[in-house]
Amino acid sequence: MTEADDSHSPGEPGVAIFSDPEALADAAAERVSDALVAAVEHRGRADLATTGGSTPAGLYVRLASAALRQRVPWADVHVWWGDDRYVPRDHPLSNVFGVDEILLDEVHGVLLPLDHVHPWPTGRAIAEDLGPDWCADTYAAEARAELPLDPAGLPVFDLVLLGIGPDGHLLSVFPGSPAIGSGRLALGVPAPIHVEPHLPRVTFNPSILEAAAEIIVMVAGASKADVLARILDGPRLDPGSADGLPAQFARRSSASWLVDAAAGSQLRPRA
Ligand code: 6PG
Repeated sequence: MTEADDSHSPGEPGVAIFSDPEALADAAAERVSDALVAAVEHRGRADLATTGGSTPAGLYVRLASAALRQRVPWADVHVWWGDDRYVPRDHPLSNVFGVDEILLDEVHGVLLPLDHVHPWPTGRAIAEDLGPDWCADTYAAEARAELPLDPAGLPVFDLVLLGIGPDGHLLSVFPGSPAIGSGRLALGVPAPIHVEPHLPRVTFNPSILEAAAEIIVMVAGASKADVLARILDGPRLDPGSADGLPAQFARRSSASWLVDAAAGSQLRPRA
């Protein structure tokens, strides 16, 4: 059963609460499919920036299912990543790994042209010892060359899919991150000590969320309940401060937050 509340207050995101992670993944698959279909109808192509972590796995399984595989015009879809760990693509902790294993799997996968898959160039950066900043700058240049740009020069993704961390991070933008307020579209990030995995990262600047046509944030599990309530119902904090909540960058009307009941248990009641 689904309890849904998608009413948008001005400046605030829609929030929908689902009974369990399965219902959340079902709804996310519907929303992502709709957004990809709409973008292809509108401009002949859809650019999705997806996320890492464990949360999107159920979504990818559903997108690869027969019903959705036929509905989404995959030949016109491009997949990007909002951030990644600084490891090669075939490393199990790479954010690309889940898409490669589930969505592009040769038995169950979708017919996404391989040159429409845009991983961060971590493999080359590591092999040639070019470093995370080179990797980030190269990816930023690729995004600027491939995507429409908004008046501020930011690439416009049709859909940005996000998760949040227990410290209130999104992308690899942690509280106090130098990405916040920086003019750089993408940055290398030293390995975080306070959250796992302790690996260096590469990330887009959260300013890409200002330009994105649509944002979907997926949150599951009781361990996220407290931070989710602070992000969505608490005061808007300076995201650049050490006790700020970068995930509040996605507390905007262009975003839909899809959460399961465990994660949503401390949210204020919504009409
Ligand atoms: C990463 C992510 C990060 C992630 C959240 C949620 O590379 O770690 O992009 O922002 O989405 O930490 O992760 P889980 O889904 O594993 O809880």
